[in-house]
Amino acid sequence: MLTPFPLGRPARMAVLASGRGSNLEALLEAFPPGHPLGEVVLVLSDNPSAQALERARRRGVEALALPWRGRRAFEAEALAHLEARGVDLVLLAGFMRLLSPGFVEPWYGRLLNIHPSLLPAYPGLHVHRRVLEAGERETGSTVHFVDQGMDTGPILLQGRLPVLPGDTPETLERRVLFLEHRLYPRAVRLLLLGLAFPPSPALKPLLGEAFPLFQALPPREKPLYLRALALLRRWGQEALAPALFLGRAGEIGRAAFLAAHLLAEDHPALRQELKELPLEVRAPAEAELGRVESSP
Ligand code: GRF
Repeated sequence: MLTPFPLGRPARMAVLASGRGSNLEALLEAFPPGHPLGEVVLVLSDNPSAQALERARRRGVEALALPWRGRRAFEAEALAHLEARGVDLVLLAGFMRLLSPGFVEPWYGRLLNIHPSLLPAYPGLHVHRRVLEAGERETGSTVHFVDQGMDTGPILLQGRLPVLPGDTPETLERRVLFLEHRLYPRAVRLLLLGLAFPPSPALKPLLGEAFPLFQALPPREKPLYLRALALLRRWGQEALAPALFLGRAGEIGRAAFLAAHLLAEDHPALRQELKELPLEVRAPAEAELGRVESSP
């Protein structure tokens, strides 16, 4: 199976946060109680004085501190709470601890993190300072599936920003955070709608001769192809998957790639090109875009 989503019911989400919790706040706002796609039902923190806990409680969401007494103890407690609340999706938002393979593996595909750089560049800490020191012209943020490494899992969605003359680590942080507050909810929407998923062994038989091409793509390009594939499946055209990746799926393939781009980021030229496709391929693509964009 490529993805367990959509679930056919609102998803139950938990957020793990260690500090300020501004991304948590954005998620709480985007997925309030009663939201048809899903709601945040639990917030956990390894830090009892995290502002994140306050933010959740102020909105009436259950928030628990699990003070750090080592990884094994924290993970066992956290897992018990996630199971007890029937959580479907775990979102790390400024969670400053590395989770063990024993925690991560069973949640693979249902565990996301947000990191303030254009991964795979600049994993780890002090990102903005390192970006400035390296003289980068562009930075951004990445929502990714969590695997066993630090900030290494498959990319789900990225947002980009220019680095401007005179920027400091503080100005960059502010600008990237503002971007993140839109990026994370959008990534979660794509996941919950079944329009984003991590690479898995199920791809090989589906893609056939095109599989090596997919594997050779740079990590930042893979999510676009996976979204196009998700769209094709939704349209009952899964058999076209190898042709899609090889650029031989005709107008349906065109519509899938244009919509896959637009699901991540608006782009007037791409929208225009989509508009010029025949109605029968354009209409389903526009319907998918409408579902993501009209979602509160
Ligand atoms: C964000 O920049 C996020 O990308 C990183 O930690 C920061 C958390 O900020 N993982 P906040 O706690 O959500 O305000």
